[in-house]
Amino acid sequence: MHLIMVVVTDIFGGFTINEYDPIDWGSIEDKKHFRDLTTKIGTVIMGRKTFESIGKPLKDRLNIVLTNKNFKNDKNILFLKGNPQEIISSLEKKNIKSAAVIGGKKVFEEFFPYIDKIFITIEPIILENSQKLSFKRENFKLITTNVLNERGTIVLEYEKLP
Ligand SMILES: NC(=O)c1ccc[n+]([C@@H]2O[C@H](COP(=O)([O-])OP(=O)(O)OC[C@H]3O[C@@H](n4cnc5c(N)ncnc54)[C@H](OP(=O)(O)O)[C@@H]3O)[C@@H](O)[C@H]2O)c1
Repeated sequence: MHLIMVVVTDIFGGFTINEYDPIDWGSIEDKKHFRDLTTKIGTVIMGRKTFESIGKPLKDRLNIVLTNKNFKNDKNILFLKGNPQEIISSLEKKNIKSAAVIGGKKVFEEFFPYIDKIFITIEPIILENSQKLSFKRENFKLITTNVLNERGTIVLEYEKLP
């Protein structure tokens, strides 16, 4: 299955200012890009903390929320636990062909080896005291660039090279 990482950062790669950051520093245009892209992909995978900072399931998408706690599944929300391979194989059993990995830090880092595409939005701002993501070295190829607004919010699409 295809796993696509969808993330927004500041100019220097800062991607959050605190554990439950609602990302209100992101532009309206990026929120629309995020909604359109993840709706097209159809399934989103996120950690329990990111789910709590969003505050509700994302509509028109199957929401996979990773947690070791016990929550009740709902119409478009499925709580799962396990390592990435177990999560991927349980989604494949449901005939899901692709999913967007939407954070947060823990989920990005554990799923990164299985990601084959990244959509990164760079907001033309600098966040104070931001946190960065940390991965092992991989090589990517730039596929598309898309400027979202006059300020220069940019979306870069990358594919992982073998
Ligand atoms: N800039 C961006 O694009 C972006 C996007 C999303 C989030 N963020 C930021 O990311 C930060 C949150 O990251 P985070 O690392 O603190 O939290 P997180 O990744 O959102 O959630 C971590 C939680 O997810 C659960 N979890 C993760 N992997 C699991 C697995 N394999 N099996 C079962 N449960 C699993 C655990 O929940 P339990 O404790 O319930 O077991 C864990 O405590 C926030 O600051 C947020 O703003 C940024």
